[in-house]
This record gives sequence, structure tokens and C-alpha cells, in this order.
Amino acid sequence: MKSTPLLMSRLAGALALACVVCAPVLAQNAPVEPKSALNAALLTGATFSPPDIATIPKDEFGKVVQFGRNVMYDTKKYAPQYAGNSLNCVNCHTDGGAMAGSAPLWGAWVSYPAYRSKNKKVNTYEDRLQGCFRFSMNGKAPPLGSDVLVALEAYSYWLAKGLPVDEKVAGRGYPDIPEPAQAPDFVRGKSVYEANCAICHAANGEGRVVNGAVVFPPLWGAQSFNWGAGMGSIKNAAKFIYANMPYGQSYSLTPQQAWDVAYYMDGQERPQDPRWEGSVVVTRAKYHDNKNSLYGTTVNGILLGDTGAPKPFQPPKS
Ligand code: HEC
Ligand code: HEC
Repeated sequence: MKSTPLLMSRLAGALALACVVCAPVLAQNAPVEPKSALNAALLTGATFSPPDIATIPKDEFGKVVQFGRNVMYDTKKYAPQYAGNSLNCVNCHTDGGAMAGSAPLWGAWVSYPAYRSKNKKVNTYEDRLQGCFRFSMNGKAPPLGSDVLVALEAYSYWLAKGLPVDEKVAGRGYPDIPEPAQAPDFVRGKSVYEANCAICHAANGEGRVVNGAVVFPPLWGAQSFNWGAGMGSIKNAAKFIYANMPYGQSYSLTPQQAWDVAYYMDGQERPQDPRWEGSVVVTRAKYHDNKNSLYGTTVNGILLGDTGAPKPFQPPKS
């Protein structure tokens, strides 16, 4: 399954609208439809292809599969009671969760239950779905058995058709990235960001909204993922960015550039970790005491995460 021409034309249109002032830059950087050689799957060794979307059955089961797919693409619309920011699942699980190297749902489906050091217990597939709502979507975990959770499971199961149960399936997660030669750096990351990312995600990292639709998702700030999210780990972010960004130009950054820009992105303020323990020191000690988290450290003069208790749940602005 490839990236939809629809999305690409929306992107091109949005860029034209949002960037009238940067027309000269656009002429060189205008996004093109990702070629098969230029997507995240390239360096993963993945051989599995999920079924074609056109083959979703036209029956009761198929309706639920389709609903799960809708939740992936437009989480705010189809799961408004659980989505707390302006992101959609598909922003980090591209191609509707079908793309190898972009944490595809088929790779996840065949990999649970599994032990995770993040919470020191065996996690079910439902736990992972709930976690992405709570942290990546800065929202609420849909209860077990809720229509949203059941639909995401049905869609994942359908995507994984024919795949053996195996947590090491090629293409799962975000591909590994070599360790950086130099320690990741904020100042270098800022110049990578300005040269390669700001055109879409905006200089302030808040993305771009055109006619009420989020065309480029926010990377930090109030509408982005919160401090508890997987993307808040510099390593996860570097892996995601290396394989998936700039959009349509997978693997075009050097690994060092990906680490630096991940550090820059994860060195910015975002919503509080919902596991907040009353102080940034205690919360860091309990959940962030590792070199991949900048939470509770001072970056660019700001003590990150020192923003008080999490804000009560609010549906996203747009
Ligand atoms: C801001 C980016 C982001 C968004 C938005 C997001 N996720 Fe994730 N998701 C991740 C990251 C990063 C991981 C890997 C996390 C880790 O290792 O802690 C992940 C992991 C997962 C996994 C497990 C993958 C595996 O192979 O183990 C599933 C399933 C999942 N997400 C589903 C969803 C769903 C459903 C949504 C929308 C409700 C969603 N995600 C939204 C970033 C995101
Ligand atoms: C051509 C426009 C474009 C450029 C340039 C670009 N991105 Fe993105 N980015 C996107 C789009 C579109 C998505 C959502 C993908 C989807 O929904 O399929 C995205 C998603 C993301 C996400 C996950 C969602 C979120 O908001 O957290 C991160 C992180 C990200 N980009 C980082 C970067 C970084 C870092 C760079 C520069 C190295 C970059 N992007 C360059 C268009 C772009």
C-alpha cells in the first residue's frame, strides 16, 4: 500500500497556501509523491505486505475494520472522547499504520503480549493502544471493550493477515539507527531543523493548520504529544525521523543529523507527563532517569517539564 495521492495533493496545496512567503524555497523543496525507494520500509528488510485496503470485507466485520482505519487517520473526529491533542495516530504510524519502518500495526499485532521495561510488566496489545492515547495523543485511554479499542484491534488483525506470530518480524517498529559519533546537540539540531523541517512544521514547531485542518502536525507545544510519550525519547525520535522525515525523503538525513534534530525537538516544552508525581525532580527520578529523556533537565535555559500538574482533559482545538 502506498501513500495516498490525496494526501500529497493536500500537502502541496497546504504548502502553497501556508508558504506564500517562502516560494523560492518551495520551488526546490516541494514535496513529491514518495517513491517506493524513498519510504521508511527501504532499510528494514521487510518482505510482508498487508492486504490491499480495497479488500476490506463488505460485511459487519469489515465495517469495524474500516472504523479502526478511520480512527488512525482522523483520531479527533472518530475518537473525540479520547483524543487530547491535534495529532492523529497516522502522523507517527504512517500510511494508516501499514508502512514498514513506521511502527506498523501488523508488526505490533503479532508481538503481544510482551514484557516492557517502561512499566515492568507483561503488556497486552490493548495496553499499547491505550498507552498511545494517554501519552502520544495526550488524551484518555479508551476502556477495554470500547468500540474504539475493538475497532483498532480488528483493523490491526486484518492488516496482519498471513503473518506468523513473531515479535522480531522485519519492519516492526522504527528501524535501528547507528549511535551518534558526537553527543546529540541542541544548537546543531536547531540548524538541521531550520533547514529541513521548519518549512512544514513551522519555526515554532507548532505545525500548520489550513482551513481548520492540521496539515503538518505539531512537534512540540500544547497540541503535541506529552512528556510520557515514546516520541519524547531522543532515541525513538531519532529512529522515527531518520526513517520517516523529512516527509517523502526517508533516510536523507545522516544519522548524526537525525539525533541532533531529535534532541532539539525533545528539548522543547510540551504537555505534562500524566504520571506526574508532584514535582519535576520526583517525576524524572521515577520515569525519566535515562539519557534519552530531557525531562527535568535544563535545556536552552529552561527546566523542562516544570509546568505543574497536568491540565484536565480537553478535546483538541482543531
Ligand atoms: C507522537 C507520535 C505517536 C502518535 C500520535 C501515536 N503513536 Fe503509537 N507509538 C509511537 C511510538 C514512538 C511508539 C513506540 C513506543 C515505545 O517504544 O515506547 C508507538 C507504539 C505503538 C504501538 C506498538 C507498536 C509495536 O510494534 O510495539 C501501537 C499498537 C500504537 N503505537 C498504536 C497507536 C495508535 C492506535 C495511535 C492513535 C490513537 C497512536 N499509536 C498514536 C508514537 C505515536
Ligand atoms: C514536506 C513536509 C514535511 C517536512 C519537510 C518534515 N515533515 Fe515531519 N511530518 C510531515 C507530515 C505530513 C507528518 C505526518 C505524516 C502522516 O500523517 O502520514 C509529519 C510527522 C512528523 C512527526 C510525527 C508527528 C508529530 O507531530 O510529532 C515528527 C516527529 C516529525 N514529522 C518530525 C520532522 C522532522 C524532525 C523534520 C525535519 C528533519 C520533518 N518532520 C520534516 C511533514 C513534514
